[in-house]
Amino acid sequence: MANFKTLPGFREFYPEDYAKRKHIFQIWRQVARRFGFQEFDGPVLESLELFKAKSGDEIESQLFCFTDKGGREVSLRPEMTPTLARMVGAKANALKRPIKWFCLGDNFRYEKQQRGRLRCFSQLNVDILGEAGPSADIELISLLIDMLTSFGLTHEDFYIRLSDRNMWFLYLEALGNDEAQVTQILGIVDKWERLPEDAVREKLTGIVGDKGRSLWEAIDAFIKIDSLPALRKIFDGLNVEGESAERLQARLDDWSALLGGLELMGYKEFLQLDLSIVRGLAYYTGFVFEAFDRKGEFRALAGGGRYDTLVKKMGGPDMPAVGFGMGDVVLGELLADRGCMPQFVDTVDVYAVIGGEEERKAALADIGSLRQAGYSVDYAFKNQNFGKQFKAASAAGARLAVIYGSEELEKGVVKIRNMSDRSEEEVPRSHLAEAVRSLL
Ligand code: HAM
Repeated sequence: MANFKTLPGFREFYPEDYAKRKHIFQIWRQVARRFGFQEFDGPVLESLELFKAKSGDEIESQLFCFTDKGGREVSLRPEMTPTLARMVGAKANALKRPIKWFCLGDNFRYEKQQRGRLRCFSQLNVDILGEAGPSADIELISLLIDMLTSFGLTHEDFYIRLSDRNMWFLYLEALGNDEAQVTQILGIVDKWERLPEDAVREKLTGIVGDKGRSLWEAIDAFIKIDSLPALRKIFDGLNVEGESAERLQARLDDWSALLGGLELMGYKEFLQLDLSIVRGLAYYTGFVFEAFDRKGEFRALAGGGRYDTLVKKMGGPDMPAVGFGMGDVVLGELLADRGCMPQFVDTVDVYAVIGGEEERKAALADIGSLRQAGYSVDYAFKNQNFGKQFKAASAAGARLAVIYGSEELEKGVVKIRNMSDRSEEEVPRSHLAEAVRSLL
């Protein structure tokens, strides 16, 4: 027997499941529009090269790639950001800045099967390009919080962990590491929570030799920082001078602006300074952030940050950028868990309840006109008793039932039943559409 099962990590959406996904998409779109972002899309299949260089090692090992019939090395998209950077770069001069774009689409990653991670998932991306200062980061982080609260979640359900790759560079360089070492060390910090301590220590020693031990302590202390004053203080003990001292001061000012802006907007209780977040993707450059459920039961709900060099690397001009991605999988799980996922299915406005073959002619004519007038209408294909048809009307979620009985039709009228309170009224068939409009 052939295997007709879905592939691991791919989902089917029966109508109840589809309705849930649609709910998520609707709120994603509504909120992004509310913040003045414009929707775009790109190709699902790209040249392999695009992701190999730009997304980083972890994603590279998860690519759904193959050689197409023309001999091209191609890959399904694991993420949107490289495509977005290329698209913006190609038309940079013609685009009004700041560029505020969002996109919804399926992404593909050959991930290990685990809770919250699939091989095909929908992802929302929201990005601002062309603005270097913290105002863009503030706008995006507030949008992320607003989006999650628009689903009915509160600060008791989720929070945003804020971090900064620039601060890590300043810190690790002050400890005597060069740029290549810092990049390698951040790769380890990214896995700090997941790897056993011995493995981490060993990896650090592999990079800095004997200094591995003290580096572990220094990183551990940095990760434990949870406030801006504490961040300031940890640098006091280090010899940061000259140009580095200026960069440090400017960066601390950026942090004050970021936290101050978000606090002004009323988001303080959603935020946590947490330097353990460094983000695994290769292109991040400054502030980075991730949204998590408070209880720590789920994987990240969303993640993003600054990627100020990617547009240029993709062949475009120098253009600062910041954005985030949010998947539908973990979000859907959290919404269900917190009772924030409405149980709805697609419904109809009107169900036509038809007495018999004779009455069907009049009903079909009216169904046609109502649909043309924009109402959703359903009816039974075969003759059935009234009881069955009313049951079907309820199951379809109809708000009104229009009843075609022989006596009424002789008088040129139909009965309309309001399905929620069962009240009924007679209306002339010639005024059916107006009656439906006033009752809906
Ligand atoms: P990411 O952290 O790889 O970032 O993904 C962002 C979100 O997509 C995750 O927090 C998670 O909700 C969802 N996600 C990722 N992989 C999976 C998976 N296998 N199954 C289910 N959900 C998943 C990015 O993709 C960046 N391109 C985001 C970005 C946009 N940065 C700047 N702009």
